[in-house]
Amino acid sequence: MELKQAVPACTACGLHKSRTQTVFGVGDEKADWLLVGEAPGAEEDRLGDPFVGQAGKLLDNMLAAIGLDRRTNVYIANVLKCRPPGNRNPEPGEVAKCTPFLLKQIELIQPKLIVAMGRFAAQTLLASDASIASLRGRLHRYAGVPLVVTYHPAYLLRNLPDKAKAWEDLVFARRTMQSLLDTRESASA
Ligand code: URA
Repeated sequence: MELKQAVPACTACGLHKSRTQTVFGVGDEKADWLLVGEAPGAEEDRLGDPFVGQAGKLLDNMLAAIGLDRRTNVYIANVLKCRPPGNRNPEPGEVAKCTPFLLKQIELIQPKLIVAMGRFAAQTLLASDASIASLRGRLHRYAGVPLVVTYHPAYLLRNLPDKAKAWEDLVFARRTMQSLLDTRESASA
């Protein structure tokens, strides 16, 4: 079954019972940048797109600050495609059932760089239980794709001093993307 049909039809975990709709992802399906969040919140569950609430506004501003726009050359997806009730944390069983969808999205999009926002995205893609603080600031890889770890925008709304660190992470991500593009250009010159 096509991924875009399989996700809305999924009943693999209990979250299908409380969702309004699944939230597949949004953006350019051939994007160089893939941003991965945690799970839909109330607004995302209502509207069907990721990061459309308060955290989404912050994310859009952060993207704009590095010259990016969610509609162009960026794709945004979550680890979970359904909203956990009351915005509780995803449970390990839910992450395990839902992660194959995200991995398939990565395979199809073939991004040049992944930005994992928050603990659930970082730990899932890196198969690690390390903290964001210990993972940020260096380049990781998921299936060969360079991956940068940063704080989740919703966390930043509650911890404003850490915004400066998230900014450092984005500058690092932008620099990494630039060097990936430069390497490709010089290889084809
Ligand atoms: N937080 C997330 O991780 N994803 C969303 O889509 C919205 C809020």
